[in-house]
Amino acid sequence: MSNAPEDRSGVWRYRELLPFDDMRRIVTLGEGNTALLEAPRAAQYAGLDALLFKHQGFNPTGSFKDNGMTAGASQALRLGMRKVACVSTGNTSASMAAYASAAGLAPVIFLPRGNISYGKLAQALEYGALTIQVEANFDEILKLVRELAEKTGIYLLNSVNPFRIEGQKTIMAELLDQLDWRVPDWVVLPGGNLGNISAFGKAFRELLALGFIPRLPRFAVIQAAGAAPFYEYFRRRGEFRPVTRPQTLATAIRIGDPVSWPKAIQVIDESGGVVEKATEQEIADAKAVIGRCGIGCEPASAATLAGIRKLAAAGVIRRDETVVAVLTGHVLKDPDYIYRYHTGQLEAPSGEKIRPQFANQPVTVEADIEKIREILERPVEPARG
Ligand code: F0G
Repeated sequence: MSNAPEDRSGVWRYRELLPFDDMRRIVTLGEGNTALLEAPRAAQYAGLDALLFKHQGFNPTGSFKDNGMTAGASQALRLGMRKVACVSTGNTSASMAAYASAAGLAPVIFLPRGNISYGKLAQALEYGALTIQVEANFDEILKLVRELAEKTGIYLLNSVNPFRIEGQKTIMAELLDQLDWRVPDWVVLPGGNLGNISAFGKAFRELLALGFIPRLPRFAVIQAAGAAPFYEYFRRRGEFRPVTRPQTLATAIRIGDPVSWPKAIQVIDESGGVVEKATEQEIADAKAVIGRCGIGCEPASAATLAGIRKLAAAGVIRRDETVVAVLTGHVLKDPDYIYRYHTGQLEAPSGEKIRPQFANQPVTVEADIEKIREILERPVEPARG
């Protein structure tokens, strides 16, 4: 019932699960407290009786990164750091810029030039980060910056930072809280650098050990087909092989050499989990279905629904099981993608045209009552899905 910032935050409310003891030096923007939403139309599309979305896009900067960043930035404060840095496909940088600025730290951001959405780049600029666009992909820049951090003492706030993982654990604590501590059968999430799946696994492992829950859920990680090293690992096992030229319009998960793969493998194995991949076409259509639920999300998040549909069709997920999909980012993160999809202009990196199953074209008309009335009287096509 308290209105203290640490009790209002959907992360710090669960602070007994986190390695922080001093609430006087945390930086919070009121993160977490994200909605758990029923989506019957998406459930039907996936071939399930019901489907729940845990929408992390409802965070202050519009993605799940805020849950981890409040902890990471607070740790930077605790250590007396001045400058913090990250490499990002967009969301981490938006989040870090906001939290660092709120904490009075100087944010430095490294981005793969030309491969992040304008919404995310705009956030970094608006929140006041020194924004460096590098002519390389995410994996290459991460290597560079890890070396730079070691040499310069700049504090790195990528998901290799363990305090970010700690904060992200609370997404699962809040989910269980919302489910009255009943463990769902499945938790489904997109996989890029694999920090989130590592955090979720750690959360459930700890809550099980503490006796809050009797069992683990099964995890399903969904990757974009053009950036799917984790999927390939589970198909073949053996050695973990990075993808050298990852490609996907879901730029948030355009990652070929995910740093957290060893932890992520452990989480999949111990939970009886699975890894699936989704094509550009599947992601794009699933995203439009989530939109038609009145919910919406960014492309990477929609990989969840695309993957669930395939797993349900294959009988891996049964239609009567409880399934929670984590939507990782807000619908407005990538408006350019949305416009292109609905107007039939979206093209996969391979050059292949996406054929929108759920296109919704804007209609242009003169300022004339009769002409507008004509449009309104056209038969309305029932929304599929
Ligand atoms: N969904 C969104 C919207 C993301 O921004 C990311 C990662 C993921 C899913 C994948 O999560 O890396 O924990 O497996 N974005 C990072 C970034 C890499 O820089 O913003 P993951």
